Amino acid sequence: METVVSGIRSTGNLHLGNYFGAVKNFIKMQDSYKCFFFIADYHSLTTHPKPENLQENVIDVLVEYLACGIDPKKSTIYIQSDIPEIPELYLLLNMLAYKGELEKCTTFKDKIKNQQQNINAGLLTYPVLMAADILIHRADKVPVGKDQEQHLEMTRNFAKRFNHLYQKEVFPEPSAFNFGENLIKIPGLDGSGKMGKSEGVNNAIYLNDDEAIIRKKVMKAVTDSGPTKKNQEKPEIIQNLFTIMQAVSTNDVLEHFNNAYNDCKIKYGDFKKQLAEDIITFTKPIKEKCDDIKNDKAYLKQVIEEGAAKARESAKKTLFLARESVGIKKY
Ligand code: TRP
Repeated sequence: METVVSGIRSTGNLHLGNYFGAVKNFIKMQDSYKCFFFIADYHSLTTHPKPENLQENVIDVLVEYLACGIDPKKSTIYIQSDIPEIPELYLLLNMLAYKGELEKCTTFKDKIKNQQQNINAGLLTYPVLMAADILIHRADKVPVGKDQEQHLEMTRNFAKRFNHLYQKEVFPEPSAFNFGENLIKIPGLDGSGKMGKSEGVNNAIYLNDDEAIIRKKVMKAVTDSGPTKKNQEKPEIIQNLFTIMQAVSTNDVLEHFNNAYNDCKIKYGDFKKQLAEDIITFTKPIKEKCDDIKNDKAYLKQVIEEGAAKARESAKKTLFLARESVGIKKY
């Protein structure tokens, strides 16, 4: 069985875009791959050096993933900072990561624009830490979005370089997991394209938004003055809302509003009301599960401890090989 590793940023709650774009696929992958999912809390330190709410965010993200259906019996789910083998592999990999290639990395160049006062080495070596996350389990596949492809490419380079330098096949070269047709891009509500937290507060619907907020956000979504020709193509802002409906509503509902649009009889008010109610129906069970899990401290503790134990078992094997290869502690 192939091994899959994916890291989850510990900043921010999940929105519908995250759910349909990634989490839903993670849940499916659990049955056919050996999956390692972890919360990347060390990575958060490169841009969020405030300890106040870091741990709280980590738990929130963990709870949401569990509520969505990541199953600790099928997958290994853990917190990055619980695995000391990861920073140790990161240290070893840093010896073969070149300053030049790290400086050329697009995400580094973007990030330093936003934090001129804090261009730290952690930010520069972010891709090395990410490579350590992936290589520590000798992963075959990594489900990543477009913005992370360069990091994965660098991971392959570090893996190849390590194997070549030490003349041992320690690390397989991980490839991007291709979701193919399963990759559903959920657009935002403000017509700006992608759903995301950086696009504005009303653009994204979060799994933990309450009913009133969901209704408010959906009713505020941008529309036009309505179709004028039968069966006309939908403009992007309208198509966006239909795409969200396709993800959360039944086929009957979708067909009803599609027909209404095609007949030029659609009332956007009714359409958005229905969409809001269907989003509420969709998110409600996830929210309830989040509450249950969050209140069950003993269960959470067990998930975190068992996840860490399973992840460390795998990590120790790799680190042993890596240390042996570089010539550390042969006695
Ligand atoms: N850098 C990834 C992101 O920003 C998160 C991440 C960290 C990751 N380590 C990883 C993803 C390892 C995949 C594999 O989304």
